[in-house]
Amino acid sequence: MQTANRKFRIGVIGTGSISSVHLDAYQANSEAAELVAVCDLNEERAAAAAAKYGAAHVYTDYRELLARDDIDGVSICTWNNSHAEISIAALEAGKHVLCEKPLCMTVEEALRVEEAVKRTGKLLQVGVVRRYAQNTAILKNFVDAGDLGEIYYAKANCIRRLGNPGGWFSDRERSGGGPLIDLGVHIIDVCWYLMGKPKVKSVSGNTYNKLGNRSNIANLGFYKAADYDPTKNDVEDMANALIRFENGASLMVEVSFTLHAKNDELSVKLYGDKGGAELEPALQIVTEKNDTILNVTPQTDFSTFDFMDSFRRETAHFIRSAQGECETLSPVEDGVEIIKILTAIYESAATGREIVFD
Ligand SMILES: NC(=O)c1ccc[n+]([C@@H]2O[C@H](COP(=O)([O-])OP(=O)(O)OC[C@H]3O[C@@H](n4cnc5c(N)ncnc54)[C@H](O)[C@@H]3O)[C@@H](O)[C@H]2O)c1
Repeated sequence: MQTANRKFRIGVIGTGSISSVHLDAYQANSEAAELVAVCDLNEERAAAAAAKYGAAHVYTDYRELLARDDIDGVSICTWNNSHAEISIAALEAGKHVLCEKPLCMTVEEALRVEEAVKRTGKLLQVGVVRRYAQNTAILKNFVDAGDLGEIYYAKANCIRRLGNPGGWFSDRERSGGGPLIDLGVHIIDVCWYLMGKPKVKSVSGNTYNKLGNRSNIANLGFYKAADYDPTKNDVEDMANALIRFENGASLMVEVSFTLHAKNDELSVKLYGDKGGAELEPALQIVTEKNDTILNVTPQTDFSTFDFMDSFRRETAHFIRSAQGECETLSPVEDGVEIIKILTAIYESAATGREIVFD
């Protein structure tokens, strides 16, 4: 492990939309982090990021960036189809890795990444940023203190009525799927984490591709990939799933890139035998005292997921974990479990059957 008394030297691979949040977060943590190099297939985009954030070196081939011996860790912010390949190459080059969600696209890839982590002894932190959000950290304390008791049911949705980001997001070969792997990964992960990571028993899911990308819609803006292109769209636009766990708990999920819904929705709710909680849309704890039900509102800076604050926490935690000061909150083995769940939902949807795990 690298010592904490010198700055952690960073390379960022992939300088599209989300990379700017990593770069902002490292810049805001300049006491601990130093940006050395950036890389993107698109040289102009990489050069623009280097100029903006003060990276001295620009690459279009990630292998060249990884060959530098003055880089301690990398943020991987590329399309999903390159996460496994670049993660493994980075680990083998002796770098610590913060890999954007999802860890990768298939279980086979996930197991290879996990093997590379074990073999190299380097850290891989999965970029499931919601685990690092302030509201999640607060709720986790209540869960760990037993205030919810045994959590036996959770329910989460992330509904975009209009929000297919286009480009690689809607090209299955590069993304691995649509809103399930893109948005579902976040809410399934944060529920599973707060439920105490129970062992999954079975999964039943449905996916729908009914509305297309709806690039025809005027007068409403939405998140777009750096190379927005609506012409290719072979991913689902809606998915739902019921996930059962060996301890008897269950999790229901629904997500969409587009849906004839009145509003966008984001909700994450957990129910235990001593209390309940809403993580989203705003942190609330439900409890019972003196024969009375109480809805308790924690007083916090951010009652909902705050993008910038959460990425600052995630990247700072990555550096501290790599320096041996703490354990990562989102290790590679958790990423593997989530990929197993996501791919089982797709398999269930494709076959029309429940997928049962051994
Ligand atoms: N944590 C979050 O909330 C969050 C939000 C958005 C995106 N993401 C994740 O971040 C990743 C990137 O998403 P985005 O929205 O920034 O996409 P984007 O298309 O805006 O940017 C991706 C960039 O990666 C580059 N790239 C692709 N393959 C590469 C390779 N092999 N080598 C070098 N550069 C390569 C592309 O040229 C592009 O500039 C995805 O995995 C996505 O799931 C996470």
